[in-house]
Amino acid sequence: MTKRRAAILGTTGMIGQRFAHMLDDHPYFEVVAYCASDRSQGKKISEVWKLPDAELSDDLEGRAIQQTVAEDLSREGVELVFSGLPSDVAKDIEDECAELGMAVFSNASSHRTDPDTPILIPEINHDHLEAVDIQRKRRRKGGYIITNANCSVTGLALGLKPLVDAFGIEDFHVATYQALSGAGYPGVPAVDILGNILPHISKEEEKMKSEGRKILGRFEHGQFVDSSVSILASCTRVNVRDGHLEAVFARMPDMPDNERIASTLGEFKSRPQELSLPSAPVEPIIVTAAPNRPQPLVDSLAGSPERARGMAITVGRIRTTEDSLRLFLLVHNTIRGGAGGSVLNAELAHREGIL
Ligand SMILES: NC(=O)c1ccc[n+]([C@@H]2O[C@H](COP(=O)([O-])OP(=O)(O)OC[C@H]3O[C@@H](n4cnc5c(N)ncnc54)[C@H](OP(=O)(O)O)[C@@H]3O)[C@@H](O)[C@H]2O)c1
Repeated sequence: MTKRRAAILGTTGMIGQRFAHMLDDHPYFEVVAYCASDRSQGKKISEVWKLPDAELSDDLEGRAIQQTVAEDLSREGVELVFSGLPSDVAKDIEDECAELGMAVFSNASSHRTDPDTPILIPEINHDHLEAVDIQRKRRRKGGYIITNANCSVTGLALGLKPLVDAFGIEDFHVATYQALSGAGYPGVPAVDILGNILPHISKEEEKMKSEGRKILGRFEHGQFVDSSVSILASCTRVNVRDGHLEAVFARMPDMPDNERIASTLGEFKSRPQELSLPSAPVEPIIVTAAPNRPQPLVDSLAGSPERARGMAITVGRIRTTEDSLRLFLLVHNTIRGGAGGSVLNAELAHREGIL
């Protein structure tokens, strides 16, 4: 099979490095351009590599970083773009790539609220891909943008979806304990976070609500219709490298018991598993009965096969009463909540024939 020609934008960043690792020797895609800002132009990937848990292949380490110019990518025959750009920069560059006919798979928030742009999580809302048809019509050369969600929302939405569908639970509160890598480079100053917890992450609580409702909602008659699910969030930054832990609370009369909640989450599978997409975890939600899990240090890289490491969320400490539910969930913020989410979206688009 001929591989599709891809580019990575923001290669030197937290998300960009994950892209480079996940797309190395990918069965569907071949990265032909590694881009970043003019500050990084000409550097070898080995000079900027900072991921301690992902080894750099011989092929990847010698690749050079180029400046991000949409016209250059178009001339190089790039068909799809994986974007790990900061939102303020991403807006125009992603639009330019899409206008030049490329398919853009973005981590940035700049296009998430566009009325014809899906926030895609293939296990939850693969039907939202329909919006892409509408978007392509307004762009000159049929390109489009598909975003993935904010990293905390991705884990939360994945955990909530089976509970909303099976039991109609609608009223959720969540407290997050978010890792430092979620803030990118250079991130939070060490002096602010060492021995500390920061009880505010700009715009995060609003995104949990608005993105969560769009993702869990429907796409019908050419538009997104938000879910009626209520999500009230309190977000904190903690001194952890990778992995966002989230404490979820829900209330409903006649709450199902622990076993039903656990089996509903643990048995959940969807379109990516049906299609055996290369980065799809066999079990998207891993349920643990251990009393002290999930933990970021132990469980962040959950997921199999090897290509899907970090793509499963882990749920534990499920506790129910007659009218309440509490649980913890953990998501790897730069893999499932970041680069891996976009890679899975592109794999789905490829297999559904829209690439
Ligand atoms: N970190 C997470 O957990 C996470 C999760 C989900 C979504 N996101 C989103 O993903 C995006 C990337 O986040 P990150 O954490 O990877 O950020 P980051 O570590 O700060 O990396 C930013 C990247 O963008 C490049 N860049 C900056 N300005 C540029 C410009 N003017 N032109 C071209 N390239 C430019 C940087 O290149 P240089 O090194 O050359 O400056 C770097 O490669 C953000 O929109 C973020 O909100 C992050």
